[in-house]
Amino acid sequence: MIECRELTKMYGDLYALNRLNLQLEPGDVYGFIGPNGAGKTTTMRILATLLNPTFGEASVCGYSIYNKPREIRRAIGYMPDFFGVYDDMKVTEYLEFFAAAYRIRGPGRAKKVDEVLELVDLGYKREALVTSLSRGMTQRLGLARVLLHEPEVLLLDEPASGLDPRARIEMRKLLKRLRSMKKTIMVSSHILPELADICNKIGIIERGKLEFNGDVATAIRQVRQSSIYLISVGDGKAIEAQTFLKGKPGVSGVEDSPDPDVFRVTLSQGIEDGSFLAEDLIKAGFRLRRFGEEEIDLEDVFMRITQGITN
Ligand SMILES: Nc1ncnc2c1ncn2[C@@H]1O[C@H](COP(=O)(O)OP(=O)(O)O)[C@@H](O)[C@H]1O
Ligand SMILES: [Mg+2]
Repeated sequence: MIECRELTKMYGDLYALNRLNLQLEPGDVYGFIGPNGAGKTTTMRILATLLNPTFGEASVCGYSIYNKPREIRRAIGYMPDFFGVYDDMKVTEYLEFFAAAYRIRGPGRAKKVDEVLELVDLGYKREALVTSLSRGMTQRLGLARVLLHEPEVLLLDEPASGLDPRARIEMRKLLKRLRSMKKTIMVSSHILPELADICNKIGIIERGKLEFNGDVATAIRQVRQSSIYLISVGDGKAIEAQTFLKGKPGVSGVEDSPDPDVFRVTLSQGIEDGSFLAEDLIKAGFRLRRFGEEEIDLEDVFMRITQGITN
């Protein structure tokens, strides 16, 4: 659905995009993650045929950006990171205006406007002035606008940026809804945890270079090669339990954690299932109070990949 090959954009001698290669299949929800200035907007603007690359290839729905821009524009919904809304316009008027621009005519137009308003949960604001909407509602209106012509592919540039936590949750719900409608979605963010559970693939980009491309589980594995368990035992026997586990086959390290009651056990590389630790402790007479795998800190994964600290 989307393909970039060696896509490159230079501004003077600055590589805004440096030989970007990526591919999205139909139904993919691709999280495009990177810090400010990484090249996310540049990529999306090129795919939306609003900006020409310096060299390289890109296509959307099989159409090349070089010779089929009209077809691409019809097939995509592009929501830029900043878009203007017009003063003195009601929500419905705003959408009617864009529906007209998409040549949606007749009674179908009002119906379509209602439909997209329902989809983004803004039906109750149909008579409100667009300038009176909160930032979260404005973003949802922007999304409604790019859904009017029923595009197969959505390019959403930081739809959740500048939103408060509640509005972020709403935006995530909305993305999940679009995912279930089988849209192919490329959505950017500078925050990995925000997108990790919505996307089936992610790309991590920094200074124009794609540092990682694949699924979230692979990203985590690349950063953290061994499983870590957090364990707590009763009767003040933490130190005894640590000594007991040290040097056992399958255990590569035992150490304290910030919580004095809890210690961390790192498994040897290649061993993922640490349930034997619990069995051994119980057999040896320890009372388990807490046992579980340490949660992955996705922010940490992101930092390490962008700093090149993998493997
Ligand atoms: N019109 C422009 N002229 C010069 N440099 C630009 C222009 N647009 C973007 N850049 C530079 O290209 C790089 C990528 O920008 P951008 O794609 O907007 O990043 P992101 O969206 O990831 O924050 C940045 O270093 C930015 O300063
Ligand atoms: Mg940007």
